[in-house]
Amino acid sequence: MANNSGKKWWKEAVVYQIWPRSFQDSNGDGVGDIPGITSRLPYLADLGINVIWLSPVFASPNDDMGYDISDYRAIMPEFGTMEDFDQMLETAHSLGIKILMDLVVNHSSDEHEWFEQARSSRDNKYRDYYIWRDSSGVDAEGKPLPPNNWGSEFGGPAWEYDETTDQWYLHMFSRKQPDLNWENPAVRQEIFEIVRFWLDKGVDGFRLDAINIISKPEGLPDDPSVVPGKHSSSIPFVIAKGTKVHEWMHELNMETFDKYDCMTVGEMSATGPEEAVRFSGFDTDELHMIFHFEHMGLDSDPATGMGKWSYKPYQLTEMKEILNTWQTKLDGRAWGSLYWNNHDQPRLVSRFGSDAPEYRELSGKMLATVLHGMQGTPYIYQGEEIGMTNVQFPAISDYKDLDSINFYTDMVEDHQTMSPDEAMSLIYAKGRDNARTPVQWSAEENAGFSSATPWIGLNPNYRQINAAEATGRADSLWHYYQKLISLRRDELQDLLVYGSFLPLDAEDAQVYAYERHGEGGKLLVLANFTDQELERSYQALGQGQVELLLSNYADQEELADQGLTLRPYEARIYKIS
Ligand code: NOJ
Repeated sequence: MANNSGKKWWKEAVVYQIWPRSFQDSNGDGVGDIPGITSRLPYLADLGINVIWLSPVFASPNDDMGYDISDYRAIMPEFGTMEDFDQMLETAHSLGIKILMDLVVNHSSDEHEWFEQARSSRDNKYRDYYIWRDSSGVDAEGKPLPPNNWGSEFGGPAWEYDETTDQWYLHMFSRKQPDLNWENPAVRQEIFEIVRFWLDKGVDGFRLDAINIISKPEGLPDDPSVVPGKHSSSIPFVIAKGTKVHEWMHELNMETFDKYDCMTVGEMSATGPEEAVRFSGFDTDELHMIFHFEHMGLDSDPATGMGKWSYKPYQLTEMKEILNTWQTKLDGRAWGSLYWNNHDQPRLVSRFGSDAPEYRELSGKMLATVLHGMQGTPYIYQGEEIGMTNVQFPAISDYKDLDSINFYTDMVEDHQTMSPDEAMSLIYAKGRDNARTPVQWSAEENAGFSSATPWIGLNPNYRQINAAEATGRADSLWHYYQKLISLRRDELQDLLVYGSFLPLDAEDAQVYAYERHGEGGKLLVLANFTDQELERSYQALGQGQVELLLSNYADQEELADQGLTLRPYEARIYKIS
């Protein structure tokens, strides 16, 4: 049995997520690739991160941009070759950077050989690699009806009818992503072998995609929360009612990860802190940490029944309640991961800060301070370090993400439940392509991403917002991230990584304040989430020796006893000893 309660490299890591298609193109086809990543590794080393989470680079027809894998042991030709991959891994390691792969094994692509075999006949030996069921009946016109009422994550039913064999297969995501049947021991063995293949190659761990939905509820009963005509996903139902996920996570860990010095993080929507402790508790032998989603729902309106495709402004008090609860419930029991955004979420400054020119960097620094000040392993999503913003393309035809396209088709074209403007404004606020426009490296043509027209539009603000500008200016957001990372990795590890967390003033709707307590004393983290000047006072400022470690404003006021004035989006970290 492993015990994960002590110091570990993966607790001290700062992770940077790369979504390869939009990171850096090297061969002029408008698509990011692996040699492009290799060429940017010195940039990442300079920023100070020491782990990369690489979104999928495996062979894929790209229905869901690589999250539909057709060969788990091959590299997508658009991204390069296995030699390119080996070269990238070697260069990363020589710079002290580890690489996590994205393990997408709740489902495969329907173009994976297993599925092509499986769908060919009911008695094919791969049939049971997937989840097949008979129709539940026929409708008034005699057309077959799906086995149950489950909705898929990307809209529409979670079942697809297969005429050849007159049965339906389950797909919790798109119809080109059939769910693998984990009940079948042969499937689990295949997955263990894939994991070992990559670990033997020298990769340093995995992010596990949608891993808490692998166990489906016994008997596949109807999901009572599905509302016809709404965008109802049955994923929360599957998560709540599946019974074998811990058994299988344990088995996967013992058969693979546990035999290597690697890092694991499981993606888990609809999961609270007590369940997280079951997955990533220090003595559970399942995973090192999970990504929870609770703060990702803060700006959705549950009353609409539309899940993420709804909008309401978020409340800071609700954000604090969620994040503080996770901090205190995991402390001493399990390790957590810290993130504000990824390839599925809107851009950070546009969503939780301000992307107005005068506040974009200030609010980006403030949000970074809040996250990197917490206990857990922080994750930075590509472009976050330069404050990239959401994008508003004029027409739905400019969008590439099937989630946004399906939503628009469903609401505007098929059912006319929303006007085109209403649907576009939700896509502007929530669509995944916000995060998927090419990284803005410079003000040059195509933002230095590619010599060709990129596969998806650029955010037109690349002439102002880009890495060349940000790395060349000492007070930029980029340099602020560099400082935060070095504080955590070097100077203040005992406090910033391992210190315990004490929330302050939970009811304050404008300022996020908390303390970290540990061997080297304590830290006070303060963050003004508004564009107003605010007067506050904190007891800790009147105790012991108070030193300002970091702030997003150049000049600082003299502290008057315990009181201070926080300017718009101001953030500070004090050390008190
Ligand atoms: C979560 C991934 O992050 C997302 O991009 C993908 O669409 C789904 N899982 C399905 O693999």
